[in-house]
Amino acid sequence: MSQLSHHPRIHLLRLSQLAIAATALVITVSACSDGTKYPIKLTDSLVDDGRVVYGANCAVCHGDSTVRPPLPDAPTHAADGHTWHHQDRLLVEWVLYGVPMGGLMPNFVGTLSENEVRAAIAYIKTFWPDPIIEQQTRGSAEYEKQLGH
Ligand code: HEC
Repeated sequence: MSQLSHHPRIHLLRLSQLAIAATALVITVSACSDGTKYPIKLTDSLVDDGRVVYGANCAVCHGDSTVRPPLPDAPTHAADGHTWHHQDRLLVEWVLYGVPMGGLMPNFVGTLSENEVRAAIAYIKTFWPDPIIEQQTRGSAEYEKQLGH
């Protein structure tokens, strides 16, 4: 085996594999270095967009900060629910691709963009009092760190 690995063509093959791996790494790192998406920063314009997205796509099942969920199986996103126990990136992924162990909520991938879902989550955050927003944002930042972003 060691003889074989000294064959120049095998070295060349390894080098090209390394080059591909290095390229993939650079692409991944540059995608992650966009530190502006998560945790989601609450700006007036994002919240305004989110109010519209939420009103058109989410409120029918979930209600809002004051209206209890019209669909009994849909959790409230208000402060007495558990949405704020989860990190921003996961909330967005769940809305796009489905909630783990869920199945009743439609997937929004193809209907809403990631930024529209980020806006809807930003709007949901305004349902919570400041200490909860701060705690959930810290948790979301911690999660990004764990992912190495
Ligand atoms: C047809 C009803 C329906 C619509 C429309 C809907 N949801 Fe849901 N949603 C649910 C149900 C039911 C669950 C519980 C998990 C499951 O069964 O999929 C859920 C779960 C969730 C969760 C995870 C639970 C939590 O809060 O921690 C989030 C976040 C969420 N929805 C956000 C949204 C957002 C944002 C929209 C709009 C873009 C939306 N949902 C639209 C029914 C709906």
